[in-house]
Amino acid sequence: MDAFVFQNPVKLIFGNGQTKERLVTELKPFGKKVLLVYGGGSIKNNGIYDEVTALLEEGGFEVTELSGVEPNPRLSTVKRGVEACREQGIDVILAVGGGSVIDCTKAIAAGAKYDGDPWDLVTKKAVPEAALPFGTILTIAATGSEMNAGSVITNWETNEKHGWGSPHTYPAFSILEPKNTLSLPKDQTVYGIVDMMTHVLEQYFHPQTNTPLQEHMCEAVLKTVIEEAPGLVEDLENMEKRETVLYAGTIALNGMLQMGVRGDWASHNIEHAVSAVYDIPHAGGLAIVFPQWLHYHKDQGSTKLKQLAERVWDLDTTGMSEHEIAEASINALSSFWSSLGAPSRLADYEIGDDRLEEIAEKTMVNGPFGNFNKLEKPDVVSILRASL
Ligand code: NZQ
Ligand code: ZN
Repeated sequence: MDAFVFQNPVKLIFGNGQTKERLVTELKPFGKKVLLVYGGGSIKNNGIYDEVTALLEEGGFEVTELSGVEPNPRLSTVKRGVEACREQGIDVILAVGGGSVIDCTKAIAAGAKYDGDPWDLVTKKAVPEAALPFGTILTIAATGSEMNAGSVITNWETNEKHGWGSPHTYPAFSILEPKNTLSLPKDQTVYGIVDMMTHVLEQYFHPQTNTPLQEHMCEAVLKTVIEEAPGLVEDLENMEKRETVLYAGTIALNGMLQMGVRGDWASHNIEHAVSAVYDIPHAGGLAIVFPQWLHYHKDQGSTKLKQLAERVWDLDTTGMSEHEIAEASINALSSFWSSLGAPSRLADYEIGDDRLEEIAEKTMVNGPFGNFNKLEKPDVVSILRASL
């Protein structure tokens, strides 16, 4: 494994009832003026908005609201948030929602302390030197944004979607209540499951050697999600399954699985470019692109694919060739996602081949990419073509 430093400053607060128990105490040290950031209204339908605003009122906070954060949050919304922070003299931000709301909040927090266009931070033309403090109340198990410093922002004017992050963009605290995820519809539940599984798999396919614990940890998260997901999709209000999947989503991308390894992440880069052009759900894109990335790497990835087949999918590989095992392992993943109801082809989103070159070009902004195997533009076009 590689040398590494691990530091994660997020205070993770997990369990039903924890918002009531701790929100006011956690926010108080940061000041009185709160920017409450949320999405398109799910928190108003499921009662979380009422609970949170009542607690903020009881706590004596002065609240300004920023609503309407889009799935695939946009730069224009980040700018609205930065303006609100400046106009109102905001002390602390509270994000209530999914990865999109949290990612948008990270960009607002850093943007409020940066004297320029927040897009400079996203495109790494400028490095954040500070950020407003922020906390989160997570409402969907998916991205891991609640316990990492990453943020993904879309510039809809230029059709660009980029990930960025900084040591200043870790949440100060994140409250995770399984009950807050009970209202998720089936499609968003499945997207979350696909996203967290792909995060684990991106980290599983790394070029480092001597990483047995890292691999077993990844396999444990995958196996748990594979055991729990079908039952959850059948019974969306199953609190115990919600709890397990919520915990899994955080562990999948809070840095625990990437100590000493450099995960591949090429499929995420490709998916971000697809969403930048077609605005499809992130994990819908991953469910399509990631299996094709695996097919493209059947030979280089055969050892890991065999491990997955035997240790995660429990396939009996006796008598099978290396190639057959790799195929069976990829098919097990695709069939599992399809059985949950995830999309499998770009055609499922009515995406044809007319803009594949443009999407591939967008993935190349920082040159060839992927840590397990470097991809050039023609490789990306092939993976996208196979995804049609
Ligand atoms: O906007 P509202 O009305 O709140 O509805 C949301 C949204 O429509 C809804 N939702 C969330 N919680 C709900 C709920 N509906 C009912 N009940 C609830 N409890 O679900 C929809 C999707 O929400 P969103 O926040 O977009 O989902 P997700 O958490 O999957 O975030 C996706 C974004 O995160 C980025 C993606 O690219 C995408 O932009 N990512 C961020 C990462 C990170 N920061 O580490 C890593 C990921 O790989 C990913 O790229
Ligand atoms: Zn993801």
